[in-house]
Amino acid sequence: MKKLILDLDTGIDDALAIAYALGSTESELIGITGTYGNVLMEQGVRNALAITDLFGHQEVKVYKGLPHASTKDSFEVLDISAFIHGKNGIGEVSIPESSRDAESMSAVDFIIDAVKTYGEDLIYIPTGPLTNLDAALKKAPEIKDEIGRVVLMGGALTVPGNVNAWTEANISQDPDAANNVFRSGIPATMIGLDVTLQTLLTYKETQQWRDLNTPAGSFLADMSDYYIKAYETTAPHLGGCGLHDPLAVGVAVDPTLVSTLAINMQVDVEGPTRGRTIGDPTKLNDPDKSMQVAVGVDVPRFLDEFMNRISGLAKNS
Ligand code: RIB
Ligand code: CA
Repeated sequence: MKKLILDLDTGIDDALAIAYALGSTESELIGITGTYGNVLMEQGVRNALAITDLFGHQEVKVYKGLPHASTKDSFEVLDISAFIHGKNGIGEVSIPESSRDAESMSAVDFIIDAVKTYGEDLIYIPTGPLTNLDAALKKAPEIKDEIGRVVLMGGALTVPGNVNAWTEANISQDPDAANNVFRSGIPATMIGLDVTLQTLLTYKETQQWRDLNTPAGSFLADMSDYYIKAYETTAPHLGGCGLHDPLAVGVAVDPTLVSTLAINMQVDVEGPTRGRTIGDPTKLNDPDKSMQVAVGVDVPRFLDEFMNRISGLAKNS
């Protein structure tokens, strides 16, 4: 059985990623590591603990990660993130705080330990900045050859960014860390805006969760409606909100949901295009390609899987 670690800046679509992972019984969510982005790292960790409680999965351990980018010494949530995800990260919906604490082991040590324990069976799914994975690779570089795969939400290859013309939000938080990860040779699948902006959630689906009449169903519906509403302002042409982070989990569980391009990638770290995810020109002729970039997605099949798995979980919690 595949073992999954989610690395989350637990905002709304990160919360949906937790639900997708818990609703996927063919794999096991062995832990959540916290990062910063949509919210402060500490808030994201609190959200992850409360959400796993709400879904009846108190066995999922949560680990604190690094609180800011590798090249900075602090982090502040951007106004746009608070607008899209709410100040609390979960659309201003209030759910009971968990009585559990984060584990005392650091996220970086947990990642390394999990690679040593599960090797090829481990899939690590970052849906925020790549700061924790970069730090784990610096501490234990050999894990790049031991891990099963990284399936990351971030970047944009064939479409513009969502922060500016070049840059996607997760990569923009720590381009240096992302560049180190991309160029490390670790086997990674990039689930970028190329595909995530094709997978949209609308009020029609959130109503199905509301109709379940369970605490988890109401939480999912209220939180996601907040996200859809924000998208009506930031990207009205889409007609729904992007299922960024759940698609990364979907692909980790079933890689056939996307078609991919094999390519060695880099992240621009200098100049005006800082944060751009692009092919590494120095490895263009290298026959070994360490990354796969998703360029196509089976939208109806993913949305079906998404709704079935999450509704299955929420009808009992
Ligand atoms: O660009 C989309 C990504 O940025 C998602 O992971 C979202 O949660 C935010 O972190
Ligand atoms: Ca995220």
